[in-house]
Amino acid sequence: MTFELQYTDSKTNARAGLITTDHGQIETPIFMPVGTVGTVKGVHLPELKEDIKAQIILGNTYHLYLRPGLEVIEKAGGLHKFNGFDRPMLTDSGGFQVFSLSGIRKLREEGAEFRSHIDGSKHVFTPEKVMDIERTIGADIMMAFDECPPGDSDYEYAKKSLGLTHRWLDRCIKRFNETEPKYGYQQSLFPIVQGCVYRDLREQSAEFVASKGADGNAIGGLAVGEPVDKMYEMIELVNGILPKDKPRYLMGVGTPVNILEGIERGVDMFDCVMPTRNGRNGMLFTKDGIMNMRNKKWEMDFSPIEADGASYVDTMYSKAYLRHLFHAQELLAMQIASIHNLAFYLWLAGEARKHIIAGDFATWKPMMVKRVSTRL
Ligand code: GUN
Repeated sequence: MTFELQYTDSKTNARAGLITTDHGQIETPIFMPVGTVGTVKGVHLPELKEDIKAQIILGNTYHLYLRPGLEVIEKAGGLHKFNGFDRPMLTDSGGFQVFSLSGIRKLREEGAEFRSHIDGSKHVFTPEKVMDIERTIGADIMMAFDECPPGDSDYEYAKKSLGLTHRWLDRCIKRFNETEPKYGYQQSLFPIVQGCVYRDLREQSAEFVASKGADGNAIGGLAVGEPVDKMYEMIELVNGILPKDKPRYLMGVGTPVNILEGIERGVDMFDCVMPTRNGRNGMLFTKDGIMNMRNKKWEMDFSPIEADGASYVDTMYSKAYLRHLFHAQELLAMQIASIHNLAFYLWLAGEARKHIIAGDFATWKPMMVKRVSTRL
């Protein structure tokens, strides 16, 4: 994998770049739709590729390992072959899901013991095992196995946890270097900066991660309950230390405003369940603000969902029709909302890229923050 830093904004830390993988290129800044169990929920491949214009999607090690399991994925020839998405993919390591989704867990130096949220069965993830699993899933980008502590962790816990995440990172790198890709194309390993909201821990972690010389680096442990200003402060601090010539991935973030603020601070890659999860609950993000499609306000509004929206669903269906579908609990409501929101997120990142290249990102961004955060 290579990263070409194409433009750096002169007034902010925003950047435009190009990632090249064996499954194709990714123009940054980019939003990566989440495909937890190997599917972006409710979205067919032609819509994902041609309409939403997804350049890379995410899968989750934790979920795919539990179901369908590695035997099926390996037999298929890896996740790309299994789900038919032939563009780049990234797998999260389970470092978040093990701690947020699974049942009783024991955290030891060796690894994390957890119970499946599906059938309660007991499993252990070690850094070595996670690397082996991610090799078998076969994503272009594999995330290191980390601990993502809660946003309100005290300093002592955060420090102890960070030490463990760093030791696990060294074990991930060792196993990654000792093993080969299984399907004939290259895979990259991204380490993850942790350290909660503590400046000295974040600095220490960013320096440790930067010293590994990985193909790309991630910032984890944010948007987990800490105040939003702290999140921005930590992004700024960490990006001041992470190498400029490698992509930076902010994990699990966030709202359209969070994404614009992240881009301004030098983040290149984002993922979040928000466009799909909130979409399934009737929340639509548009360039003019946020709509709750269940509201009575839309009952008789036969105008398009978004007249100049980024997706074909925006002009194919009206607000009143979509509201009706949500109230009738029709599957199509969730599909329309997911397609619309993802197309909007990809559009937003693409527009940010255009304005970085055009040199007017610093004036475009505050105007856009105001627009996208309006409640309609
Ligand atoms: N997704 C969102 N935040 C995190 C994190 O801190 N670690 C991992 N592995 N995944 C995440």
